[in-house]
Amino acid sequence: MSCYLITGIAGFIGSSLAEALVAMGHQVRGIDNLSTGDRENLAKVQNEIDFRCIDLGDKSEVVAACEGVEYVLHQAAIASVPRSIEDPEASHQANINATFNLLQGARNAGVKRIVYAASSSAYGDQETQPKQENMLPSPLSPYAVQKLACEYYMQSYYHVYGLETVSLRYFNVFGPRQAADSPYSGVIAKFIQKMLSGEAPTIFGNGQQSRDFTYIENVVKANILACTARRDQVAGRIFNVGTGKSYTLLQTYDLIASLLEFSAGPKYGEARMGDIEHSLADIQNARHALGYMPSVGFEEGMQKTVSWYKGQAIRKAAMEGAVP
Ligand code: UD1
Repeated sequence: MSCYLITGIAGFIGSSLAEALVAMGHQVRGIDNLSTGDRENLAKVQNEIDFRCIDLGDKSEVVAACEGVEYVLHQAAIASVPRSIEDPEASHQANINATFNLLQGARNAGVKRIVYAASSSAYGDQETQPKQENMLPSPLSPYAVQKLACEYYMQSYYHVYGLETVSLRYFNVFGPRQAADSPYSGVIAKFIQKMLSGEAPTIFGNGQQSRDFTYIENVVKANILACTARRDQVAGRIFNVGTGKSYTLLQTYDLIASLLEFSAGPKYGEARMGDIEHSLADIQNARHALGYMPSVGFEEGMQKTVSWYKGQAIRKAAMEGAVP
């Protein structure tokens, strides 16, 4: 049994990691400032984890949270390209300064390894597909710059201080519990939510942009593998975490619409600023060094996701109906 610290534990990815680690019998501590996370996400594990409602800006609390921890899974962030364009300062604070504080806390506490939620946005809009880790990054949005800057910080703390770090460049993660109610929500959650409420979702641009949509279970596995992989294979390195297959937004729309038996076509809006055209991961490095293999594909993941949101909608309607 090991002691794990998950930052952003009340978020979609953090809470999924918490459930997996608790099920494996590990000790889990989690921090979250609940700015975008939700305690509801921790309902299944709340009695089995040490939850601390703190902000990564609070240095002394961060140091205390790192005490006795072997592995840190750093998920906390303001995870949105458009939000970083609208409010770059808040994003910078939450994505860069917070990560710096965590690195300092982890180093002081003697943490063994930090696994960092990096982003495929680091590649920017380069034409070459699939994206390989050795390509020169070309971040477009403030969010992409922030995520990339922290990869460099991770590498530096390994090279300079010997703190083992692994950066996982997530490719458009989706799944149950992803927030759907904000204008900054990921596209899959937004589309499902809209269709469930009987409204046609909006596609920004022509819908031909494509993404390597990655089901949450694959991302959870990659994180767990990144903790236990041999130091000489992974420390100071960066790995793509995707599936190696991509789908256009129109294909994605059609799949969700067919699962929900939603017959209306999409609305169209202007292409989003800072958006990129195509994104597809080369996952060879993760396969060799981590033993990572995506086990849930796009369609299966989408079925699980849609049925979770459907269940939520039914529960919500039942609760509203029960209120006199
Ligand atoms: C980017 C990153 C991803 C990161 C995420 C954090 C890339 C390739 N991916 O995702 O790794 O985790 O930021 O937020 O850079 N869209 C619509 N209608 C909507 C919402 C979105 O058409 O209502 C479109 C967007 O314009 C975009 C696509 O759907 O083309 C995906 O958008 P989104 O889910 O927000 O993720 P990315 O910005 O691709």
